[in-house]
Amino acid sequence: MGGAEYTLSCLICRRVALRITAITNLWLVSQEFTHRRRKWIHKLHLKYGPIVRIAPNEVSFASWDAANEIYASGGSGYDKTTLYTLFENFNKRNIFSTLEKAPHAEAKKQFADRYTKSFIMQPDVRSGIQELADQFVTLCTDTPSEAVDIYIQTRCYALDCITYHLFHPFGLRSLTQPSDREIMKQLSYVDDLIPSYLRYYFPALSGLFKQLLGPSTSLASSYVATSAHRTDVASDSVLHKLQTGKNATNVPSIASECMDHLVAGIATTGDSLCYLIHHLSLDSSLSIQDKLHQELSANPSANIDDLPYLDAVVKEGLRCFVPVSMSLPRKVPAGGRIINGVYVPGDTIVSCQAYTMHRLDTEVFPNPEAFIPERWIDAEGTIGRNHLFFAFSTGGRGCIGKNLALLEMKMLLREVYSTCRTRIAPEMKACMELEDQLISAPPKDMTCLITFEKIG
Ligand code: HEM
Repeated sequence: MGGAEYTLSCLICRRVALRITAITNLWLVSQEFTHRRRKWIHKLHLKYGPIVRIAPNEVSFASWDAANEIYASGGSGYDKTTLYTLFENFNKRNIFSTLEKAPHAEAKKQFADRYTKSFIMQPDVRSGIQELADQFVTLCTDTPSEAVDIYIQTRCYALDCITYHLFHPFGLRSLTQPSDREIMKQLSYVDDLIPSYLRYYFPALSGLFKQLLGPSTSLASSYVATSAHRTDVASDSVLHKLQTGKNATNVPSIASECMDHLVAGIATTGDSLCYLIHHLSLDSSLSIQDKLHQELSANPSANIDDLPYLDAVVKEGLRCFVPVSMSLPRKVPAGGRIINGVYVPGDTIVSCQAYTMHRLDTEVFPNPEAFIPERWIDAEGTIGRNHLFFAFSTGGRGCIGKNLALLEMKMLLREVYSTCRTRIAPEMKACMELEDQLISAPPKDMTCLITFEKIG
């Protein structure tokens, strides 16, 4: 490869010195099936630096250079690996599960405007989310002495927000309606990691493994399949845009797209909020709560993006407890590419993981395990921090829901911390460590008990 100073085999093997990963992928697979892939890769990066070979045909990177090359070069980076076919719904592709970048770009064009910042900030969209944020606080403060399980409550909020955006006025009301809450529960108490990896590694047995997943998403699937047929949704809903686009008559494809947004919008935004409220409720974080309350109560009518401390708290939450914290695998194009100064042959699987991107470079993120919102306010080093901030990935295949997610998070936190003080409930014993699923990381025990106390 012209210009390459090193080859994958000589440089990476030398750096990694992990001969076993150069010979077999068994070690990697064993880490995957036991929920340990992310942590294992992170340990390797801590030991060997920003490039590690994790299997004969797979390399993990942790630098801005590599992320930019893999996810954004040549008009949105490398194609996805077949892992993403697991995310098809109703046997139809959606933008998340489309592997090649050309058809992906074509499909995304049809509705991408529904997720732009200017669209999301329109009064009608904002007011729908504001109403749900108000509801969340009312429910949490109804019985002040009782603990609230915010693992489920933040997921309900996220589900109601995303279905509002997709199907307004036929969004779900899981915060208040028990039947809609059942949909939330089916989506929230599953561990689909092993069946998913089985389907990935043994695609010929896919039908059998699908059954192992059981009916976990059946209520949500029926809701989406029924909604996709509606012709009376609001003209500013995502569904309306899909129905008036090129694929208008292909209802299963429209349903697949909506189902993907629904699923993508719950565990991510819901769990980010859950981790954040949990962290802010620790005794050691009470000064952060006070500072946040001061900013919010001093600026009750400020534009949501003009609250620098709230912004810093959200960014630091997404840095520390990133819900999509694992590798996002891509396939090196034919002919190979130079990534981070290293020649990597075509067809090699390459990736970055947010968990490591947010921690490895301690010049950019000093004391990386500590939750310090102030680091985002310091003008010095802003470019470096923003480069390594990988919660929503980067490039044209990064998160389409980013603006919506940030608005949901900020609106909910503004509502909570303008009016309440939160604490860890005395009976809270659950483990809040991130537990990896295929592409999200809910808290290990799927419970988080918090008390809400109204303040003046
Ligand atoms: C804090 C909240 C969120 C985080 C951290 C997050 C993170 C991400 C990441 C890292 C990706 C890239 C995944 C990959 O390449 O494998 C992604 C893609 C995606 N996200 Fe999100 N997400 C969030 C919320 C949402 C919401 C609310 C929606 C609702 C629409 C959404 C919809 C999607 C979709 C459709 C994609 C695929 C985009 C494409 O392939 O072009 N996400 N998200």
